[in-house]
Amino acid sequence: MGFDNSARAMDKKKHITADESPVVKVLAPAKINLTLEILGKRPDGYHELRSLVVPVSLYDTLTLTRVKGPSIAVSCAVVGLPGEHQVMLPAPGDNLAVRAARLLRDVTGYSDGAHIEIQKEIPIGGGMGGGSADAAGTLVGLNHLWQTGLTVEKLMELGAQLGSDIPAMVYGKPVCMEGRGEKVRPVPCHWPVGTEWWIVVINPGFNVPTRDIYRRYRTGLTLPQETFINACFALEGGDVKLASASLHNSLEAVVYKKYPLLSIVAGRLKSAGALGVLLSGSGASVFAVAANHDQALSIESQVKRESGLWLWTRVAKILPDGVMVAHGPLEARV
Ligand code: C5P
Repeated sequence: MGFDNSARAMDKKKHITADESPVVKVLAPAKINLTLEILGKRPDGYHELRSLVVPVSLYDTLTLTRVKGPSIAVSCAVVGLPGEHQVMLPAPGDNLAVRAARLLRDVTGYSDGAHIEIQKEIPIGGGMGGGSADAAGTLVGLNHLWQTGLTVEKLMELGAQLGSDIPAMVYGKPVCMEGRGEKVRPVPCHWPVGTEWWIVVINPGFNVPTRDIYRRYRTGLTLPQETFINACFALEGGDVKLASASLHNSLEAVVYKKYPLLSIVAGRLKSAGALGVLLSGSGASVFAVAANHDQALSIESQVKRESGLWLWTRVAKILPDGVMVAHGPLEARV
Protein backbone atom coordinates (compact mmCIF):
# COMPACT_ATOMS: atom_id res chain seq x y z
CA MET A 1 0.00 0.00 0.00
CA GLY A 2 3.06 2.20 0.42
CA PHE A 3 2.21 4.61 3.22
CA ASP A 4 5.03 6.88 4.15
CA ASN A 5 5.33 7.18 7.88
CA SER A 6 3.89 10.65 8.03
CA ALA A 7 4.05 10.97 11.80
CA ARG A 8 7.77 10.34 11.64
CA ALA A 9 8.18 12.63 8.62
CA MET A 10 6.44 15.37 10.57
CA ASP A 11 8.74 14.86 13.54
CA LYS A 12 11.67 15.81 11.33
CA LYS A 13 9.92 19.03 10.35
CA LYS A 14 9.24 20.46 13.77
CA HIS A 15 11.52 23.11 15.10
CA ILE A 16 11.23 22.34 18.82
CA THR A 17 11.19 18.81 20.17
CA ALA A 18 8.07 17.55 21.88
CA ASP A 19 9.79 17.18 25.27
CA GLU A 20 10.71 20.87 25.19
CA SER A 21 7.16 22.05 24.63
CA PRO A 22 3.90 20.95 26.19
CA VAL A 23 1.87 22.33 23.26
CA VAL A 24 1.34 21.44 19.60
CA LYS A 25 -0.94 23.05 17.10
CA VAL A 26 -2.51 20.97 14.34
CA LEU A 27 -4.39 22.13 11.29
CA ALA A 28 -7.08 19.54 10.66
CA PRO A 29 -8.47 19.92 7.14
CA ALA A 30 -11.99 19.20 5.95
CA LYS A 31 -12.59 16.69 3.16
CA ILE A 32 -14.87 16.40 0.21
CA ASN A 33 -15.85 13.22 -1.61
CA LEU A 34 -15.33 13.57 -5.37
CA THR A 35 -17.16 10.27 -5.73
CA LEU A 36 -19.21 8.42 -3.13
CA GLU A 37 -20.71 5.10 -4.17
CA ILE A 38 -22.81 2.87 -1.97
CA LEU A 39 -22.20 -0.68 -3.08
CA GLY A 40 -24.49 -2.51 -0.66
CA LYS A 41 -25.56 -3.05 2.92
CA ARG A 42 -23.25 -4.92 5.28
CA PRO A 43 -24.26 -7.46 7.91
CA ASP A 44 -23.08 -4.99 10.62
CA GLY A 45 -25.70 -2.45 9.45
CA TYR A 46 -23.15 -0.17 7.80
CA HIS A 47 -22.86 0.27 4.05
CA GLU A 48 -20.13 -0.93 1.74
CA LEU A 49 -18.60 2.19 0.16
CA ARG A 50 -16.16 3.26 -2.50
CA SER A 51 -15.20 6.90 -2.37
CA LEU A 52 -12.48 9.24 -3.58
CA VAL A 53 -11.77 11.50 -0.62
CA VAL A 54 -9.60 14.62 -0.82
CA PRO A 55 -8.56 17.13 1.84
CA VAL A 56 -9.41 20.79 1.25
CA SER A 57 -8.05 24.06 2.63
CA LEU A 58 -10.70 24.62 5.26
CA TYR A 59 -9.41 23.77 8.71
CA ASP A 60 -10.26 23.26 12.32
CA THR A 61 -7.29 24.34 14.42
CA LEU A 62 -6.39 22.13 17.36
CA THR A 63 -4.15 23.30 20.16
CA LEU A 64 -3.12 20.27 22.18
CA THR A 65 -1.55 20.81 25.59
CA ARG A 66 0.05 18.03 27.61
CA VAL A 67 -1.20 18.08 31.22
CA LYS A 68 -0.07 16.19 34.32
CA GLY A 69 -2.58 13.63 35.49
CA PRO A 70 -5.13 11.65 33.51
CA SER A 71 -7.59 14.42 32.59
CA ILE A 72 -8.68 14.77 28.95
CA ALA A 73 -10.54 18.07 28.62
CA VAL A 74 -11.86 19.93 25.61
CA SER A 75 -12.88 23.47 24.83
CA CYS A 76 -14.45 24.42 21.57
CA ALA A 77 -15.17 27.71 19.83
CA VAL A 78 -16.73 28.21 16.43
CA VAL A 79 -15.05 30.68 14.12
CA GLY A 80 -16.85 32.33 11.23
CA LEU A 81 -19.65 29.77 11.26
CA PRO A 82 -23.30 30.68 11.70
CA GLY A 83 -24.46 31.02 15.31
CA GLU A 84 -26.48 27.82 15.05
CA HIS A 85 -23.23 25.87 14.99
CA GLN A 86 -22.44 26.87 18.56
CA VAL A 87 -25.44 24.86 19.75
CA MET A 88 -24.61 21.95 17.46
CA LEU A 89 -21.33 21.33 19.30
CA PRO A 90 -21.26 17.86 20.88
CA ALA A 91 -21.14 17.41 24.65
CA PRO A 92 -17.49 16.99 25.75
CA GLY A 93 -17.92 13.25 26.39
CA ASP A 94 -19.28 12.72 22.87
CA ASN A 95 -16.63 14.85 21.22
CA LEU A 96 -14.72 12.67 18.75
CA ALA A 97 -11.45 14.41 19.63
CA VAL A 98 -11.89 13.48 23.31
CA ARG A 99 -12.79 9.91 22.38
CA ALA A 100 -9.70 9.74 20.15
CA ALA A 101 -7.46 11.00 22.97
CA ARG A 102 -8.90 8.47 25.42
CA LEU A 103 -8.46 5.64 22.95
CA LEU A 104 -4.85 6.58 22.25
CA ARG A 105 -4.11 6.75 25.96
CA ASP A 106 -5.81 3.40 26.65
CA VAL A 107 -3.98 1.64 23.84
CA THR A 108 -0.54 3.03 24.66
CA GLY A 109 -0.82 3.07 28.45
CA TYR A 110 0.29 6.72 28.50
CA SER A 111 -0.28 8.06 31.99
CA ASP A 112 -0.81 11.82 31.61
CA GLY A 113 -3.55 13.74 29.88
CA ALA A 114 -4.26 16.61 27.53
CA HIS A 115 -6.29 19.69 27.01
CA ILE A 116 -7.73 19.93 23.52
CA GLU A 117 -8.70 23.36 22.31
CA ILE A 118 -10.63 23.36 19.05
CA GLN A 119 -11.31 26.35 16.85
CA LYS A 120 -14.02 25.07 14.55
CA GLU A 121 -14.22 26.47 11.06
CA ILE A 122 -15.53 23.32 9.35
CA PRO A 123 -19.34 23.31 9.33
CA ILE A 124 -20.75 20.84 11.86
CA GLY A 125 -22.83 18.05 10.33
CA GLY A 126 -21.84 19.45 6.97
CA GLY A 127 -20.60 16.33 5.21
CA MET A 128 -17.04 17.65 5.27
CA GLY A 129 -15.74 15.39 8.03
CA GLY A 130 -15.41 18.11 10.67
CA GLY A 131 -15.65 15.83 13.71
CA SER A 132 -13.52 13.22 11.97
CA ALA A 133 -10.87 15.84 11.17
CA ASP A 134 -10.69 16.74 14.87
CA ALA A 135 -10.32 13.08 15.84
CA ALA A 136 -7.67 12.49 13.17
CA GLY A 137 -5.76 15.63 14.15
CA THR A 138 -5.93 14.62 17.81
CA LEU A 139 -4.57 11.13 17.13
CA VAL A 140 -1.69 12.46 15.02
CA GLY A 141 -0.98 15.44 17.29
CA LEU A 142 -1.13 13.61 20.62
CA ASN A 143 0.93 10.71 19.29
CA HIS A 144 3.57 13.35 18.64
CA LEU A 145 3.07 15.34 21.85
CA TRP A 146 2.91 12.29 24.09
CA GLN A 147 5.69 10.58 22.11
CA THR A 148 3.66 7.39 22.02
CA GLY A 149 5.36 6.33 18.77
CA LEU A 150 2.45 4.66 16.95
CA THR A 151 2.76 4.29 13.18
CA VAL A 152 0.31 6.04 10.87
CA GLU A 153 -1.20 2.65 10.02
CA LYS A 154 -1.89 1.99 13.72
CA LEU A 155 -3.38 5.48 14.15
CA MET A 156 -5.64 4.77 11.17
CA GLU A 157 -6.72 1.50 12.80
CA LEU A 158 -7.61 3.39 15.97
CA GLY A 159 -9.43 5.99 13.88
CA ALA A 160 -11.56 3.26 12.28
CA GLN A 161 -12.87 2.34 15.75
CA LEU A 162 -14.25 5.87 16.12
CA GLY A 163 -15.73 6.67 12.72
CA SER A 164 -15.76 5.61 9.08
CA ASP A 165 -14.03 8.71 7.66
CA ILE A 166 -11.27 8.90 10.25
CA PRO A 167 -8.70 6.48 8.72
CA ALA A 168 -8.71 8.50 5.47
CA MET A 169 -8.33 11.71 7.43
CA VAL A 170 -5.48 10.37 9.54
CA TYR A 171 -3.73 9.47 6.29
CA GLY A 172 -4.43 13.04 5.25
CA LYS A 173 -3.84 12.84 1.49
CA PRO A 174 -6.16 11.97 -1.41
CA VAL A 175 -7.33 8.39 -1.07
CA CYS A 176 -9.79 5.84 -2.32
CA MET A 177 -11.71 4.64 0.70
CA GLU A 178 -13.51 1.28 0.66
CA GLY A 179 -15.27 -1.17 2.96
CA ARG A 180 -16.95 0.75 5.78
CA GLY A 181 -14.21 3.34 5.33
CA GLU A 182 -11.39 1.39 6.95
CA LYS A 183 -9.73 0.31 3.70
CA VAL A 184 -7.70 3.26 2.51
CA ARG A 185 -5.70 3.25 -0.71
CA PRO A 186 -3.56 6.32 -1.48
CA VAL A 187 -4.20 8.09 -4.78
CA PRO A 188 -0.84 9.73 -5.53
CA CYS A 189 -1.31 13.05 -7.32
CA HIS A 190 1.21 14.09 -9.97
CA TRP A 191 -0.25 17.39 -11.00
CA PRO A 192 1.47 19.64 -13.54
CA VAL A 193 3.34 22.44 -11.77
CA GLY A 194 1.02 25.32 -10.93
CA THR A 195 -2.19 23.26 -11.14
CA GLU A 196 -4.82 24.26 -8.59
CA TRP A 197 -8.38 23.08 -8.10
CA TRP A 198 -10.68 25.63 -6.54
CA ILE A 199 -14.05 24.91 -5.05
CA VAL A 200 -16.88 26.96 -3.61
CA VAL A 201 -18.54 25.40 -0.58
CA ILE A 202 -22.02 26.41 0.48
CA ASN A 203 -23.64 25.42 3.74
CA PRO A 204 -27.22 26.38 4.57
CA GLY A 205 -26.60 26.65 8.35
CA PHE A 206 -28.38 23.45 9.36
CA ASN A 207 -26.89 19.99 9.78
CA VAL A 208 -27.91 16.73 8.14
CA PRO A 209 -27.81 13.63 10.37
CA THR A 210 -25.73 11.08 8.45
CA ARG A 211 -27.35 8.06 10.10
CA ASP A 212 -30.83 9.18 9.03
CA ILE A 213 -29.71 9.64 5.42
CA TYR A 214 -28.18 6.17 5.25
CA ARG A 215 -31.36 4.78 6.81
CA ARG A 216 -33.49 6.42 4.11
CA TYR A 217 -31.20 5.28 1.31
CA ARG A 218 -32.62 2.40 -0.71
CA THR A 219 -30.91 2.25 -4.05
CA GLY A 220 -29.51 5.09 -6.04
CA LEU A 221 -27.81 5.75 -9.30
CA THR A 222 -24.73 3.61 -9.72
CA LEU A 223 -21.52 4.99 -11.13
CA PRO A 224 -20.33 3.33 -14.34
CA GLN A 225 -16.90 1.78 -13.77
CA GLU A 226 -15.54 3.89 -16.62
CA THR A 227 -16.57 7.10 -14.83
CA PHE A 228 -14.92 5.97 -11.61
CA ILE A 229 -11.70 5.21 -13.53
CA ASN A 230 -11.92 8.65 -15.16
CA ALA A 231 -12.29 10.24 -11.71
CA CYS A 232 -9.15 8.40 -10.50
CA PHE A 233 -7.15 9.46 -13.59
CA ALA A 234 -8.38 13.01 -13.21
CA LEU A 235 -7.34 13.15 -9.57
CA GLU A 236 -3.94 11.57 -10.24
CA GLY A 237 -3.17 13.87 -13.14
CA GLY A 238 -4.83 17.08 -11.93
CA ASP A 239 -7.40 17.22 -14.76
CA VAL A 240 -10.07 19.42 -13.22
CA LYS A 241 -12.47 19.21 -16.17
CA LEU A 242 -12.45 15.41 -16.26
CA ALA A 243 -12.84 15.32 -12.47
CA SER A 244 -15.81 17.66 -12.67
CA ALA A 245 -17.44 15.49 -15.30
CA SER A 246 -16.96 12.40 -13.08
CA LEU A 247 -18.44 13.68 -9.79
CA HIS A 248 -20.90 11.28 -8.17
CA ASN A 249 -22.65 10.91 -4.83
CA SER A 250 -25.09 8.02 -4.28
CA LEU A 251 -26.65 9.88 -1.33
CA GLU A 252 -27.45 13.02 -3.29
CA ALA A 253 -30.97 12.08 -4.41
CA VAL A 254 -32.15 11.08 -0.94
CA VAL A 255 -30.65 14.22 0.64
CA TYR A 256 -32.08 16.57 -2.00
CA LYS A 257 -35.49 14.93 -1.58
CA LYS A 258 -35.49 15.58 2.16
CA TYR A 259 -33.85 19.03 1.93
CA PRO A 260 -35.01 20.63 -1.35
CA LEU A 261 -33.16 23.85 -0.47
CA LEU A 262 -29.89 22.03 -1.09
CA SER A 263 -31.01 21.05 -4.55
CA ILE A 264 -31.86 24.70 -5.24
CA VAL A 265 -28.40 25.74 -4.04
CA ALA A 266 -26.84 23.12 -6.34
CA GLY A 267 -28.90 24.47 -9.26
CA ARG A 268 -27.69 28.02 -8.54
CA LEU A 269 -24.07 26.91 -8.49
CA LYS A 270 -24.56 25.18 -11.85
CA SER A 271 -26.20 28.25 -13.37
CA ALA A 272 -23.32 30.38 -12.11
CA GLY A 273 -21.05 28.39 -14.45
CA ALA A 274 -19.42 25.80 -12.16
CA LEU A 275 -17.62 22.96 -13.95
CA GLY A 276 -19.35 20.48 -11.65
CA VAL A 277 -21.51 20.53 -8.51
CA LEU A 278 -21.99 17.86 -5.86
CA LEU A 279 -23.37 17.27 -2.41
CA SER A 280 -20.48 16.78 0.01
CA GLY A 281 -20.73 13.42 1.83
CA SER A 282 -24.20 13.17 3.36
CA GLY A 283 -24.62 16.99 3.30
CA ALA A 284 -25.58 19.64 4.25
CA SER A 285 -22.69 21.27 2.35
CA VAL A 286 -22.73 21.47 -1.43
CA PHE A 287 -19.57 22.21 -3.41
CA ALA A 288 -18.92 23.54 -6.88
CA VAL A 289 -15.71 22.97 -8.81
CA ALA A 290 -14.44 26.09 -10.57
CA ALA A 291 -12.04 26.51 -13.50
CA ASN A 292 -9.77 28.75 -11.40
CA HIS A 293 -9.66 30.96 -8.30
CA ASP A 294 -11.24 34.00 -10.00
CA GLN A 295 -14.15 31.93 -11.24
CA ALA A 296 -14.63 30.45 -7.77
CA LEU A 297 -14.88 33.97 -6.30
CA SER A 298 -17.32 35.04 -8.98
CA ILE A 299 -19.52 31.94 -8.53
CA GLU A 300 -19.55 32.58 -4.78
CA SER A 301 -20.61 36.20 -5.12
CA GLN A 302 -23.20 35.47 -7.82
CA VAL A 303 -24.91 32.76 -5.76
CA LYS A 304 -24.88 34.93 -2.64
CA ARG A 305 -26.30 37.89 -4.55
CA GLU A 306 -29.01 35.99 -6.39
CA SER A 307 -30.19 33.50 -3.80
CA GLY A 308 -31.76 36.04 -1.46
CA LEU A 309 -30.96 33.60 1.32
CA TRP A 310 -28.44 33.67 4.11
CA LEU A 311 -25.81 31.10 3.15
CA TRP A 312 -22.39 30.33 4.60
CA THR A 313 -19.90 30.18 1.75
CA ARG A 314 -16.20 29.54 1.46
CA VAL A 315 -13.74 29.37 -1.42
CA ALA A 316 -11.13 26.68 -0.80
CA LYS A 317 -8.71 24.54 -2.75
CA ILE A 318 -8.01 20.84 -2.93
CA LEU A 319 -4.79 19.79 -1.17
CA PRO A 320 -3.23 17.20 -3.51
CA ASP A 321 -0.18 16.80 -1.27
CA GLY A 322 -2.31 16.46 1.79
CA VAL A 323 -0.66 15.73 5.00
CA MET A 324 2.31 18.05 5.29
CA VAL A 325 -0.04 20.91 4.70
CA ALA A 326 -2.84 19.21 6.47
CA HIS A 327 -1.37 18.14 9.75
CA GLY A 328 1.64 20.26 9.90
CA PRO A 329 4.33 20.94 10.09
CA LEU A 330 3.29 20.54 13.69
CA GLU A 331 4.04 23.80 15.32
CA ALA A 332 5.45 23.45 18.81
CA ARG A 333 5.04 26.41 21.11
CA VAL A 334 6.87 26.98 24.39
O1 C5P B 1 -18.94 5.77 11.07
P1 C5P B 1 -19.73 7.01 11.33
O2 C5P B 1 -20.05 7.20 12.78
O3 C5P B 1 -19.13 8.22 10.71
O4 C5P B 1 -21.10 6.80 10.59
C1 C5P B 1 -22.24 7.57 10.85
C2 C5P B 1 -23.45 6.81 10.37
O5 C5P B 1 -23.41 6.71 8.94
C3 C5P B 1 -23.49 5.39 10.87
O6 C5P B 1 -24.18 5.31 12.09
C4 C5P B 1 -24.23 4.67 9.77
O7 C5P B 1 -25.63 4.82 9.96
C5 C5P B 1 -23.85 5.43 8.52
N1 C5P B 1 -22.78 4.78 7.76
C6 C5P B 1 -23.06 3.63 7.05
N2 C5P B 1 -22.06 3.02 6.33
C7 C5P B 1 -20.81 3.55 6.29
C8 C5P B 1 -20.52 4.73 7.02
C9 C5P B 1 -21.53 5.32 7.73
O8 C5P B 1 -24.18 3.13 7.04
N3 C5P B 1 -19.87 2.94 5.60
